[in-house]
Amino acid sequence: MSIPSFGLGTFRLTGQAVIDSVKSALELGYRVIDTAQIYQNEADVGQAIAESGVPRSELFITTKIWVENYAADKLVPSLRDSLKKLRTDYVDLLLIHWPAPGNGVELAEYMEALAEAKKLGLTRQIGVSNFNIELTRQAIAVVGKGEIATNQIELSPYLQNSKLTAFLKEQGITVTSYMTLAYGKVLKDPVLTEIANKHKATVAQVALAWALQLGYAVIPSSTKRENLASNLLARDLRLDDEDMARIAELERNGREVSPEGLAPIWD
Ligand SMILES: NC(=O)c1ccc[n+]([C@@H]2O[C@H](COP(=O)([O-])OP(=O)(O)OC[C@H]3O[C@@H](n4cnc5c(N)ncnc54)[C@H](OP(=O)(O)O)[C@@H]3O)[C@@H](O)[C@H]2O)c1
Repeated sequence: MSIPSFGLGTFRLTGQAVIDSVKSALELGYRVIDTAQIYQNEADVGQAIAESGVPRSELFITTKIWVENYAADKLVPSLRDSLKKLRTDYVDLLLIHWPAPGNGVELAEYMEALAEAKKLGLTRQIGVSNFNIELTRQAIAVVGKGEIATNQIELSPYLQNSKLTAFLKEQGITVTSYMTLAYGKVLKDPVLTEIANKHKATVAQVALAWALQLGYAVIPSSTKRENLASNLLARDLRLDDEDMARIAELERNGREVSPEGLAPIWD
């Protein structure tokens, strides 16, 4: 199992905005696209991929099941609907979007349905998103050790999630960092700016390189071709031990996203 380290996020983008972003990204060499049922852009993403001419075999597509589709009789049919929109027979990675403890569907039920989607060949890998340590443990207990490819979590220089990432590492589960740029908030940070100047890099590149060097996958989004291009170059930036230590000190529990009823009790 493997999760590619650099992808394109598509949250908040629909219609022509997401079509343009995905097409530009694919032209620039991105091959990993992160979408979700709730983003309501799967059909646009499917259209952009089709128009790009990039062969399906070169792509890694992730989607996420929305909470209203967690029941055993709904999850797979909703995925088939997503696949139709994405114009593909399978996704590479399928995630449970939020643990949603108050949703009325037990974790065991949706994790079993997720595993069933994989058995049916509708997804190559399965994983979770926004799960804390305890819920990740429960998910492992249902589907088996080694089955959960990733836990996609909010993680940026301002929210480093050290307890959860240590647990995931111990379990061999890849961390996918979402909102690595804290939706733009880290871009004005003075320490990151100093490090960026030292390397003649952008602040976004520094934040992304920091996450990559810690072994996390990243999926930054952008509507601007120049940002898409420069973010990708974060893969070539090497931060030194002093840079990494300075960024470690920026932790401030800066969580941006925690929807009531969907989020767990965070570690
Ligand atoms: N699993 C979950 O619950 C969950 C939740 C949130 C997000 N996600 C996923 O994670 C992805 C990333 O999160 P995100 O899109 O919310 O936030 P993000 O990637 O942290 O930040 C995106 C914002 O940063 C700006 N930006 C990007 N590159 C930049 C650059 N080089 N210089 C200046 N500004 C730059 C973009 O503006 P411009 O368009 O102007 O470049 C956009 O406003 C999402 O798209 C989604 O796929 C998952």
